[in-house]
Amino acid sequence: MTDTIASLSAYDDASLDQAFRGLTDEVRGAAAQLSTAETQENFRLDWLGRKQGRLKLLSESWLKTAPPEAKKSLGMRFNALKNEIEAALAVEPAGTKSTGPSIDLSLPGIRRNIGLEHPLTRTMREMTAVFAALGYSVGVGPEVESDFYNFEALNFPPNHPARDTQDTLVVADQDTKPLRERLLMRTHTSPVQIRSMIESAPPLRIVIPGKVHRNDESDATHSPIFHQVEGLCVDTNITFSDLKGTLDYAMKAFFGSSVKTRFFPSFFPFTEPSADVQISCPFCGQKGCRKCKYSGWIELLGCGMVDPAVFAAVDARRIENGLEPAYDTKKISGFAFGMGVERIAMMKYGVGDIGQFYSGDLRFLSQFV
Ligand code: DAH
Repeated sequence: MTDTIASLSAYDDASLDQAFRGLTDEVRGAAAQLSTAETQENFRLDWLGRKQGRLKLLSESWLKTAPPEAKKSLGMRFNALKNEIEAALAVEPAGTKSTGPSIDLSLPGIRRNIGLEHPLTRTMREMTAVFAALGYSVGVGPEVESDFYNFEALNFPPNHPARDTQDTLVVADQDTKPLRERLLMRTHTSPVQIRSMIESAPPLRIVIPGKVHRNDESDATHSPIFHQVEGLCVDTNITFSDLKGTLDYAMKAFFGSSVKTRFFPSFFPFTEPSADVQISCPFCGQKGCRKCKYSGWIELLGCGMVDPAVFAAVDARRIENGLEPAYDTKKISGFAFGMGVERIAMMKYGVGDIGQFYSGDLRFLSQFV
């Protein structure tokens, strides 16, 4: 097809313009006819084909033979022609699927919703933040724990009935190990208290959000996997009044300043004395409602003063690890507390079935904006 390209005789702007105008007109004429993928492909081959394409031939017969001083103005026109061809190819022929980057601005847009925090994550974060603002640091620990951290150091002796309350899921094939090394799924976040104290000498203020596991049948209020927020404060002169003041403050910060707290004797192996904490119902102002079972009070968490046996177990392990003992009960004391996140979130948001949290159902989750 080389013979279809006339040779250039003059290189002044007017002559070049004239030579290229014809080509541009041809491109535009052909571009207007590109109604199918096939005509588009033929057009592409005709102009851009690697061996016999007209641009290639033009480049050979015009560009290469041009005198050096004309190459720039020739090149510019050549590129403009090429752009024209490429623009024609970028337009999608009617009735074909999209192959290129073309965008149909007449179509409605695709809305991509911004994700939002899961209600459990949010409850845990908000609860943790209340204590972080009091100077607590945030601690985490493993979900697969040893018997030592989950039970022994927390003053649950082997075979003690208090272990029965924990419905423990154990890891298989651990029987050949000494009891304290056997692995299990942690049943509470309290082992992180032990890990933190073994690692750091007092003063210690730590809040521990985390996932825990129990061999519980699922029903509307139970799930074998759930979450807790734990707290621990150890320092000189820490008293039960500090515990009461801290938790009273935290409950007010979380549920509103009119909430009252009250403490009842309870039992946990790792605290002595131990207490259960109730808050005045923040939903009905104690008039009585379903959430407080018409009693005006809601039981929310367990707490107590850290048992000296716990400090002793911590110091024994610190010594085994080559650290100085640091939890001498003549010098320090501490309090601890723990609460269930699902229970609090269910109450706060009026969720009737714990399974909703784990369903991944957007109709449920998108309500927590
Ligand atoms: N670990 C307890 C449980 O899961 C909850 C708890 C109670 C934690 C009292 C504490 C505490 O730190 O002082 O049943």
